[in-house]
Amino acid sequence: MAIEIEKTIVGLSKLAISDTHGEDSPYFAGWKAYDEDTFDEVHNPCGVIQMGLAENQVSFDLVEEYLEKHSEAINYGSGISSFRENALFQDYHGLFSFRKAMANFMEKIRGGRAKFDPDRVVITAGATAANELLTFILADPGDAWLVPTPYYPGFDRDLRWRTGVKIIRVHCDSTNNFQVTPQALESAYEEAKSNKVKVRGILITNPSNPLGATIQRSNLEEILDFAVQKNIHLVSDEIYSGSAFCSTEFVSIAEVLESKKHMDSERVHIVYSLSKDLGLPGFRVGTIYSYNDKVVTTARRMSSFTLISSQTQQLLASMLSDEEFTTNYIKTNRDRLKKRYGKIIDGLKGSGIECLKGNAGLFCWMNLSQLLEKSTRECELELWKSILCEVKLNISPGSSCHCSEPGWFRVCFANMSEQTLEVALTRLHNFMQRRTQKCN
Ligand SMILES: Cc1ncc(COP(=O)(O)O)c(C=O)c1O
Repeated sequence: MAIEIEKTIVGLSKLAISDTHGEDSPYFAGWKAYDEDTFDEVHNPCGVIQMGLAENQVSFDLVEEYLEKHSEAINYGSGISSFRENALFQDYHGLFSFRKAMANFMEKIRGGRAKFDPDRVVITAGATAANELLTFILADPGDAWLVPTPYYPGFDRDLRWRTGVKIIRVHCDSTNNFQVTPQALESAYEEAKSNKVKVRGILITNPSNPLGATIQRSNLEEILDFAVQKNIHLVSDEIYSGSAFCSTEFVSIAEVLESKKHMDSERVHIVYSLSKDLGLPGFRVGTIYSYNDKVVTTARRMSSFTLISSQTQQLLASMLSDEEFTTNYIKTNRDRLKKRYGKIIDGLKGSGIECLKGNAGLFCWMNLSQLLEKSTRECELELWKSILCEVKLNISPGSSCHCSEPGWFRVCFANMSEQTLEVALTRLHNFMQRRTQKCN
């Protein structure tokens, strides 16, 4: 039986009791509501449908098929000596075969338009660890990152909690489809300066979570120019790169650097993981790819705290170096995500709901501002609560992503079956009809 502690007598560290973990947000509250009343087509058809989780389950069958055909990949190669090698392996460089396969996979996702050197690949337990580790290396407590809004709510925890680093928001809005402009960067930079906070870098997510859209090349160039002009770092979280519906619509910062013959590359660092593109968040496989030698060496040392098990490395080294598998997977996964996106966008449109035009990701950015009584965060949260409690859909309110414009919501579509998506769309349709009738 668990021991219940009624009153805390012994103290905990300031870090442990600080609220910079960011978990007291509707983003996480919605997950709790889902856990307590989980939808199941047969056993709980009136339960909450989880549309707040950016998980990719549309191509599981391809990974399962590979594993069925290649049992040696799961069984540590072959024989007892392989088992022992794996059991004892703990070098923080990671298996070379894994880093090479990962570098190849990253190239392939970018249509071969950028090269990745396996010796610059630092392995981490997911992108969460990669983003935190880079923050530890590039900034001191009290310094800040510039992060364009709306952004992934987990950044409030990953970048700030244990590092003591701040986030200064770069506010973007629908007037230009939420693009990050040099003016918005400058104004956030000035805000930091007036508060005597030192900005150490910009962190962008491309394709963007939550917008479900890629950043255009010219815009990436502007952001890089800004980083150069202010002599700060640029981290590009490219964890959704394989989910761009068409490979040529995604431009990696690596391509921008190649076209500039790697000028200014020492300030650029890419974060990647297999959580979204291969749908393996449970495997905890991430990387930092840095063009800066010192960052690579330090990140490698620090990665001791957050390594990937050798068994997982071995399995993925086999799977990702299988050209036939990766070619088919990347293409099929993109096609399926695009189809899913089309389905949800059409369904929402049929209910009178518009979304930002997307071309990537596992979610769409839905505009319900027409339903708000007043254009405020409070009204947005009221609407979010109705959708959670009445419609039983967990979607993420824009304010949990620090969107400055009330009424936007992130809706995930790749973590469920097509049938469940249809149920969700029908529920939303009925809700919209009720709302419209009420207004008339
Ligand atoms: C932009 C972004 N970065 C990082 C993460 C964390 O990914 P991982 O599971 O690889 O730690 C997520 C997860 O949703 C994300 O959306």
